[in-house]
Amino acid sequence: MSGGDDNRAAGFARGLTNYGDRDFALYLRRSFARSMGYSDEMLGRPIVGVCYTPSGFNNCHRHFPELLDAVKRGVLAAGGLPLEFPTISLGEVFLSPTSLKFRNLMSMDVEEMIRAQPMDSVVLMGGCDKTVPAQLMGAVSADLPAVQVVAGPMMTGRHRGERLGACTDCRRFWARYRGGEIDAAEIAAVEGNLATTAGTCAVMGTASTMACVAEALGMALPDSAAIPAVHADRLRSAEASGRLAVGLIGSERTPRRIVTAQSIENAMRVILALSGSTNAVLHLAAIAGRAGLPLSLERLNALSETTPVLVDLKPVGDNYMEDFYAAGGLQAVLRELRPLLHLDCLTVTGRTLGEILASPQAIPSDPRIVHPVVDPISATGGLVALFGSLAPSGALVKRAAADPRLLEHEGKAVVFSSLEDLARRIDDPDLDVDANDILVLQNAGPTSPSGMPEAGYLPIPKKLARQGVKDMVRISDARMSGTAFGTVVLHVTPEAAAGGPLAAVRTGDRIRLSVANRSLDLLVEDAEITRRLEAAPLSAPTGLRGYDWLYRNHVLQADLGCDFDFLRETPDR
Ligand code: FES
Repeated sequence: MSGGDDNRAAGFARGLTNYGDRDFALYLRRSFARSMGYSDEMLGRPIVGVCYTPSGFNNCHRHFPELLDAVKRGVLAAGGLPLEFPTISLGEVFLSPTSLKFRNLMSMDVEEMIRAQPMDSVVLMGGCDKTVPAQLMGAVSADLPAVQVVAGPMMTGRHRGERLGACTDCRRFWARYRGGEIDAAEIAAVEGNLATTAGTCAVMGTASTMACVAEALGMALPDSAAIPAVHADRLRSAEASGRLAVGLIGSERTPRRIVTAQSIENAMRVILALSGSTNAVLHLAAIAGRAGLPLSLERLNALSETTPVLVDLKPVGDNYMEDFYAAGGLQAVLRELRPLLHLDCLTVTGRTLGEILASPQAIPSDPRIVHPVVDPISATGGLVALFGSLAPSGALVKRAAADPRLLEHEGKAVVFSSLEDLARRIDDPDLDVDANDILVLQNAGPTSPSGMPEAGYLPIPKKLARQGVKDMVRISDARMSGTAFGTVVLHVTPEAAAGGPLAAVRTGDRIRLSVANRSLDLLVEDAEITRRLEAAPLSAPTGLRGYDWLYRNHVLQADLGCDFDFLRETPDR
């Protein structure tokens, strides 16, 4: 019997190992399952897989054993059998060259283990930046009923009476250290207080934005995105998610019924209203691609015009994720955005988004942190896409995190040809640079050897930092941490390593950035750009093997979410 026929069965009878004898395969499987000590009653239950991602290399998931207990409690109480299974885990700061390179690998692991193992629904336990997008991508491709449980954010620490949260304050203090404002002893003291509890970064960085995206898409329980990792509500929400996973079994609430063009637009609205991470746009494009849906940067710009920024959180504002939860969390934001949302979107709960938002709000809103739509922080969204001769297929800028004086700017390019070149020269006292110049980093995009790291937040040259310069226009094909801030243009597409015009920029060229016009232009004749690009033909890397080979040959550009070409849903698959 084929695996396809087995997948209509339930529990341990699902997806049998192929020995050419179905009854033998089931007998053998049940025999081995019994070796784990399960009773007949348990072995007869429907199975909820729990995609479980603790790792000694992932501080953000250090509380997952306790969270798993809560998920299992919910599954057992609802009559299912919870079986956790590991996949790779991506701890943001422990991976080289960058975690993004391994997001697609994790998504394949998630998809294939959901498909290959006998489970009737799945709980996805993730949190750190790339883990939630990887799990959602894998779950959409596998299309088994699934519910996302996130780690939840860290609590803040304290330093000299000041609250500290990873990782916006990491960067703020590091900039002060580079500028000579604080000494080595103080930066060491700060280091010990930036990340003090379990959970994901304490601000509206990529992890928190993606937690909100999961809830906005309808793939996670209402009110779940912002609960701090160490709060008892986090455990109650995990238990409820376990219960829900049993209720999902056999239902039509599969990821592809939930991740639709409309729910993707709702998630885009949420990213804009949160002034969320630029990385979230890239991840959402990849998730949409798994459902065969486009994510248009032009559409992002249209939505940005009519979506107000409502949330006062770092890195753009003043507050932390623990404050956001106490202020009503994402549900408070969604209620404010209600007239702009597609309310008939289905969620994992079985209720539509509109039905959820029509029910009483669990936690009252605090307008100091979640502004009412009549008193927004800004009338338009936090992110916009730019197009022009320097970025024909688009680039992103988080305008809410930029110095407003730099949003319309023309300046001289100071070019770094690679991350190594940047490290070598950025602090050279002889570097010819002033505060009006535009720092340009090339060859840090998805197919570059660095794999599109979060290096787009180029440091202010030390000699300028010491003069008090806090922000400059910076342009690259790299990404930026969701916890960072500044006038930073990212994801320039096509990237330099793929022959994009970014590769043609030379020190001394003029570049014009106009956020008002959504434009980014290299002020060099087209013929000269072409001549420069032809003079430096692309060289295909040689000697790659294993995952490096797979990645280099199949990763797509940022506008397609940097997914692998063979993983996106297409009409012929
Ligand atoms: Fe894991 Fe920031 S390091 S979310």
